[in-house]
Amino acid sequence: MGLIGLGTVGAQVADRMLTWRPQLSRRAGVELCLQRVLVRDLKKPRAVEIASDLLTVEPADVLEDPAIDVVLEVAGGDEPMRSYLERAIRAGKHVITANKVVMAKHGPELLDLAAEKNVDVYFEAAVGGGIPLISTFRTDLQANTIKQVSAVINGTTNYVLGRMAAAGLSLGEAVAEAQAAGFAEADSTDDIGGFDAAYKLAILGSIAYEIKVRPSEIYREGIEGVEAVDFRYARELGYAIKLIAHTQRHPGQVEARVHPAMVPLDHPLARVEGAENAVFVEGDLVGQVLLVGQGAGGRPTASAVVGDLIDLARSIRRGVQSRPSFSFDDRITVVPMGEVVTRAYFRIRVDDKPGVLAAIGQVFAEEGVSISSFIQKDAWSQDQTAELVVTTHPSFDASLQRARSRMAALESVRAVSSFLRVF
Ligand SMILES: NC(=O)c1ccc[n+]([C@@H]2O[C@H](COP(=O)([O-])OP(=O)(O)OC[C@H]3O[C@@H](n4cnc5c(N)ncnc54)[C@H](OP(=O)(O)O)[C@@H]3O)[C@@H](O)[C@H]2O)c1
Repeated sequence: MGLIGLGTVGAQVADRMLTWRPQLSRRAGVELCLQRVLVRDLKKPRAVEIASDLLTVEPADVLEDPAIDVVLEVAGGDEPMRSYLERAIRAGKHVITANKVVMAKHGPELLDLAAEKNVDVYFEAAVGGGIPLISTFRTDLQANTIKQVSAVINGTTNYVLGRMAAAGLSLGEAVAEAQAAGFAEADSTDDIGGFDAAYKLAILGSIAYEIKVRPSEIYREGIEGVEAVDFRYARELGYAIKLIAHTQRHPGQVEARVHPAMVPLDHPLARVEGAENAVFVEGDLVGQVLLVGQGAGGRPTASAVVGDLIDLARSIRRGVQSRPSFSFDDRITVVPMGEVVTRAYFRIRVDDKPGVLAAIGQVFAEEGVSISSFIQKDAWSQDQTAELVVTTHPSFDASLQRARSRMAALESVRAVSSFLRVF
C-alpha cells in the first residue's frame, strides 16, 4: 500500500505498519506491505525510522503504481488531496483517508465514483480520531432510523471552555494555555470558529441519515462570544457550556447546527472533559448510545486508519466490497436555522431604573417568546446599570434573534452581552 503524509498521524501509521507487520497481516489474512510514502520534503527528520527509498515526492509513485492496491491519505487539506484521492480511485485503488475537509466537502462524489470503479473509500479517522463512529453507523446501527446525533467533537474548544469554567480564564488566556499544552494549533481559527466541528458534523450527518449534508448548509457559530461570567451563571442555573454539534431528524428535513450551548449538567455531553470527544446517538431501535474517547492525536487516529486497512484487506481477500455503497436521499434538506426551535439564555446589561423589565418583557411577548426565568444578577451603583439573565421556553430561533436585536435597540438596554442556546 501507499501512504500520503508522514506527519503526526502518518508517522504513527507507518510505525504500526513497520513494527507490527506480522500481527496486522495475520489479522487481515493477507500480507500487508508499506511500499511507498509520499511527502513534500525528503530531508525532513521523521518521528519514525523509515528506509529513505520508501519516500517519494512524486505523487504518481503512489497514485498510479499498479503494485499499490490501497492508498492511505493522512496529509490533510482540500487540494491537492481531493484530486489525489480521485486519481487513486480512477486508477482502481481503494482509499483510506483521515481528511475531514475532503470528506465533508467532496465525500458523496468520491463515494459515488468509488462505487462506479468498484473500490472502497474508508474514512473512520476523519471524525472523532480513534473513536469508532463511522463503522458504528455503517454496521452496528444499520437496523435503526437515527433520530439525533449530538456531539462534543472538537477537543480544542472543549479544553478551552473547560479552562474558562474551572479557572475563570478569558477566551484568549485559555486558548494561549491550550496552545502551550499542545491542545490547540498555532492558528486555532478552525477550532474556535466551529469550522472543524461543522466538517465533522457534515460527515456524521451524511452517514447517519444517508443524505448529502454540506458544511455550507450547517449553521455554524464559534465560541468567540462566550465570556467567563457566563460559566458562573450557567453553573447557578444547572448547566455546563459546550460547543455542541447537533443534528436531528424531522419529517423530510434534518437540523444541522454547531454552536456553543448551555447543556444540562445531568446530560452525558456536559461531563465530557478536556480534549475528549463524545458522540451521543439516538436510534429508534437501539435507544441512546454514547461513544467517548480521544478525538485526536497521532496514535488514536492511526488506530482508526490501520483498523480501516485491516477491515478493507479482509474484504479484498474475500473478493467482495465489505460494505454496501452509500445511497444518498436528495429529497431530505437541512432546516434553515430560523425555523429551528430551541430554548435560549440571554445576559443583558440594562439601566438600573423602573420600567426596564416591562420593556424587555414586552419585546419577548411581541416576538412570541415565553420566558422561563428572569433574574436580576448584579447591580453596579457606580454607573447605575444592572445585569439581567433571562432563559426562555422553546421558540423559533428567528424569533429569538429578532428579540435579541430589538432589545439591543432599546434605550434602557446598554448591551445584550451574551446569547446562548440551551440544549
Ligand atoms: N493530528 C491529529 O490529531 C488528527 C486527528 C484526526 C484527523 N487528522 C487528520 O489527519 C490528517 C493529517 O494530519 P496530521 O496532524 O498528521 O498533519 P501533519 O502533521 O501536518 O502532517 C501532514 C503530512 O502530510 C504531508 N503533506 C502535506 N501536503 C502534502 C502534499 N501536497 N504532498 C505530499 N505530502 C504532503 C506532509 O509532508 P512533509 O512532512 O514532507 O511536510 C506531512 O508529512 C489531516 O487530514 C487531519 O485533519 C489529524
